Amino acid sequence: MERIYLKHVGRYVGSEVEIRGWLYNKRSSGKIIFLIIRDGTNLIQGVVVKSEVPAEVFEAAKRLTQESSLIVRGVVREEPRSISGYELSVTDLEIVQIAEEYPITPKEHGVEYLLDRRHLWLRSRKQHAIMLVRNELIKATRKFFDERDFVLIDAPILTPASVEGTTTLFETDYFDDKAYLSQSGQLYMEAAAMAFGKVYCFGPTFRAEKSKTRRHLMEFWMIEPEMAFYDQEDNMKLQEEYVSYLVQHVLEHCRPQLEVLERDISKLEAVVPPFPRLSYDEAVEFLQQHGSDVQWGDDLGAPDETIISNQYDRPVFIYGFPTGIKAFYFKPDPTRPEIVLGSDLLAPEGYGEIIGGGERIADLDLLMQRIQEHNLPQEHYEWYLDLRRYGSVPHSGFGLGLERTVAWICGLAHLREAIPFPRLLNRIYP
Ligand code: 4AD
Ligand code: MG
Repeated sequence: MERIYLKHVGRYVGSEVEIRGWLYNKRSSGKIIFLIIRDGTNLIQGVVVKSEVPAEVFEAAKRLTQESSLIVRGVVREEPRSISGYELSVTDLEIVQIAEEYPITPKEHGVEYLLDRRHLWLRSRKQHAIMLVRNELIKATRKFFDERDFVLIDAPILTPASVEGTTTLFETDYFDDKAYLSQSGQLYMEAAAMAFGKVYCFGPTFRAEKSKTRRHLMEFWMIEPEMAFYDQEDNMKLQEEYVSYLVQHVLEHCRPQLEVLERDISKLEAVVPPFPRLSYDEAVEFLQQHGSDVQWGDDLGAPDETIISNQYDRPVFIYGFPTGIKAFYFKPDPTRPEIVLGSDLLAPEGYGEIIGGGERIADLDLLMQRIQEHNLPQEHYEWYLDLRRYGSVPHSGFGLGLERTVAWICGLAHLREAIPFPRLLNRIYP
């Protein structure tokens, strides 16, 4: 008898198979017990008929509590009305462990209660579906950049200096020195781009975001490509292609998960290039007409982003932000130095920013000046300045936040469900 994973159950119709897993749910009608069994890859309904199995098998089925672990054997049958389209006529059942009373029952629980039990919550159907979508987004990312000859270069996590401003740094001791958890791998990717041409990193990044929002995590994962000899136009083209590719990949590979999540597929199908582009100037004017009190020079808040991204059926670029609100490395527009050659990409349906990126300053003197203006200690950036001393070239890149993208594609209201173990304001357990 073959031991199988439920993901492949369709190949075994008519055969007797073994499945190892856990009891997800149970119902009984006296002479028949219906077991919903999960094995990590999918669910199946197992049917235990009293008159068709040895008495001890029926007794074992009766004893099973929610999340008890088990090994079950049976014959696979097609059953379109059943949970995964198949059913298992159980012939044999071994209990591995009888679970204690499980704290997450099919009834509704509050989100804090569930977050305290995140290590168990991950077993729930919706959370399971989200993590599988996340997994596919990572696979698609690797494939996309591999197909385009990018080299994966890992950035360090412990760093001597800030990338995205000094207010959100997590500080730690580094022997007699200070170190910070990386906010972004970008500066290291710029070095790598000068060595390999087209590169990307994919790793955890950290920001001490002191406000509680549904769009911020303290620890999140970012995909950061960096390309030598790319200008901002090339950069936006690549972002458009990448984001469309991600959505397409999920539509192809995650139909069952999107169904569990009750995601409106037509909204995702609309995500095809080209993406609309809105200048920051236009965005401010539009927002003012729609009741926002944003002024030219202000950063756009989450509500502003929501207003804009609700106007479009696909992601929208906002470009040409004021130099004053952007990080030190952004290249100012040569025709209008008060704005930068950078953009944010906002996801539709009100989700807001998923990508930030732009062209970097290639000129040594200008970069030194910007470092000074931002009150950053130049000695920590000497290595970064070297990139402008030895064969400086125009280059661009961007960072896509994985959890923001998962939340959008899965249709989640909050980022906390888009990562296995969220780090939130005042929450580091479990
Ligand atoms: O716009 P950000 O700050 O850009 C950078 O870090 C650049 N250095 C990236 C680059 O050009 N290589 O962040 C990029 C993206 C955001 O668009 C957002 O998706 C995500 O990272 N992000 C967060 N996601 C979750 N929680 C947070 N606190 C986030 N901060 C940024
Ligand atoms: Mg940003």
